[in-house]
Amino acid sequence: MKMRRAKILVVDDEELLRLWLGEQLRGAGFEVCVAGSRAEALRLAAAEAPSLVLLDLRLPDTNGLDALEQLHRFDREMPVIIMTAYGEIETAVAAVKAGAYQFLQKPLSFEQLLVILDKALEAWRLRHQVDGLREMHRWDSASATVVARSAAMRAVLDWVEKVAGADPATVLLQGESGTGKDVIARTIHDRSPRRDAPFLRVTCTAIPENLYESELFGHERGAFSDAREKKRGLLELADGGTVLLDEIGDIPLGVQAKLLSFLETRTFRRVGGLADLEVDVRIIAATNRDLALAARQNAFRPDLYYRINVLPQVLPPLRERPEDVAPLALHFLDELSREFHRAPPRLAAETLACLEAYRWPGNARELRNVVERLLLLEEGGEITVEQLPLEVRLLGAADPAAPCGDGAGFALPAGGVDLEQVERTLIAQALDAARGNKTRAARLLRLTRDTLRYRLEKYGLDAG
Ligand SMILES: Nc1ncnc2c1ncn2[C@@H]1O[C@H](COP(=O)(O)OP(=O)(O)OP(=O)(O)O)[C@@H](O)[C@H]1O
Ligand SMILES: [Mg+2]
Repeated sequence: MKMRRAKILVVDDEELLRLWLGEQLRGAGFEVCVAGSRAEALRLAAAEAPSLVLLDLRLPDTNGLDALEQLHRFDREMPVIIMTAYGEIETAVAAVKAGAYQFLQKPLSFEQLLVILDKALEAWRLRHQVDGLREMHRWDSASATVVARSAAMRAVLDWVEKVAGADPATVLLQGESGTGKDVIARTIHDRSPRRDAPFLRVTCTAIPENLYESELFGHERGAFSDAREKKRGLLELADGGTVLLDEIGDIPLGVQAKLLSFLETRTFRRVGGLADLEVDVRIIAATNRDLALAARQNAFRPDLYYRINVLPQVLPPLRERPEDVAPLALHFLDELSREFHRAPPRLAAETLACLEAYRWPGNARELRNVVERLLLLEEGGEITVEQLPLEVRLLGAADPAAPCGDGAGFALPAGGVDLEQVERTLIAQALDAARGNKTRAARLLRLTRDTLRYRLEKYGLDAG
């Protein structure tokens, strides 16, 4: 985050004092602007948005109290420190009553002034830091690209657009681990009217059961033995925004009841509290479990299931949308290369083919991990098949249900087939994919190099 320096506006009709203060303050690392009259001060306050004002009450075109009041119209929070000469104490006190931060008597001690500035700017720094964090946050989400080349994922994105507008209806995202539920939840928030309010994520499996209620709903002081202070829960903290309840299938049954009551009334009580609190929060629930099944088996409250099953979506596993594999791989390659400060290497065509054929039981997350590993090991600007992890190279052969490379993709036509012709065609294709490299072609066909050479001769494919 870039550090912004506090900007100080000095307002005094004595030119020498202005110059001296300006120089000292700049030397202490502040940005400074100076004004000799009320009119100039107001112009600079508008144009420069200072973080703090040092104001002499004796100005040619006003009594200082007016100037104070007008300065505060630009920014209520901006501290104004009054500089006053001997004999003006009463006005100075009146100024503090009218909202000045503090007064200082001239002649000024610069050391003393620095101490006061430091304190007065604390709030400004905090505010600025929060702004900075929010900026980073926004930048993050703006860059959260959702890759969607397949028809299935494009349909999901169309749905996201609609759902983002259907605020505040509850959303239920289901899908295997790593299919992108987090990214989609974030995107719904970012496209919704809540985009500038907080997006908070609760991983329901990560909270110990006895702390659940207090995490979500907060607690009053003394509600239980460890509750030394009052605590606001996530729902309160996210007021105006969105809460992602991740792994909602794992919420303990007791908390499910309280969550249901919140969804029905939009009010809740802190643990140990008596007051009903109202917050405006949109809930997005996510799970990789079959919630309908869990509800039928009473492992999840059926009434809560119906409550959250308002806008449901199941994210398709990556193996059902192989068109997304290549764009996702390139996306991760770009993203991670930037993170590692290096130029993204190329993916050999054959490498991509291998990635596309793999089943990706861990979905996009697994693909991202593989790409990360490749990046760490890669040298020479291109990722070749040999660098792929074994399980990927073997096209999911470790997985007994794998449809690729085990013949499941081929069906015998009713009229039968010329097996030698099929073999010949496949060998030619493998050679093509391997750009003539026989070792790689052999690997694609699960043959030894010698067996492949023998068949190449047999089919007259051995050109060189
Ligand atoms: N369509 C997509 N476009 C870009 N990145 C994606 C996409 N889908 C998933 N990712 C990335 O893949 C990784 C895993 O996705 P995510 O965390 O959203 O999965 P998940 O469904 O929430 O998994 P889990 O059930 O394990 O929590 C993340 O790094 C995410 O950014
Ligand atoms: Mg997730």
